[in-house]
Amino acid sequence: MFTDIELYKLSCDISRRDFINKSAKTIGGIAVGSFVVTFINACSGDDSSPTSPNGNGNGGGAVQLTVDISSAQNSSLQTVGGLLTLGANDIDPQGIFIYRQSESSVIAFSRECTHERCQVGSFASNNIATCPCHGSQYNQLGNVVTGPAASSLRRYTAVLEGNIITITR
Ligand code: FES
Repeated sequence: MFTDIELYKLSCDISRRDFINKSAKTIGGIAVGSFVVTFINACSGDDSSPTSPNGNGNGGGAVQLTVDISSAQNSSLQTVGGLLTLGANDIDPQGIFIYRQSESSVIAFSRECTHERCQVGSFASNNIATCPCHGSQYNQLGNVVTGPAASSLRRYTAVLEGNIITITR
């Protein structure tokens, strides 16, 4: 039998060396991208004085999500103007949109509608994403084009280096 501290140390060891690889899923017939989630600094390096778990499953460390745009599921982001929809993940339980803004930059934002927190649907061919709850619409920059939502989708820090996009919380 493990004590709570032993279980926590075991959990930290797993968090340090493991990452979660999420494969592509299909939601409502629309394919969504694949990504990898990594927990960073999940636990103290000093095993002699473990900190208490904070209940969020990662010991309070940062969470990083990476998207490889060379992968077939994410190929829409190889072109400037491309959009990708990610499903629920450890950064955002409602999922994330990524927009290829230029050769060197991307924008990432939450799929959580700013009206009453429903999950916004994937982008249509006119680059508009619609919330199924009350019809709010957002453009590829995450800005509201049709209410009742009044504010833009929440943005995340996103960096593009080579074929890898890194999004941090
Ligand atoms: Fe999205 Fe109301 S929750 S429009």
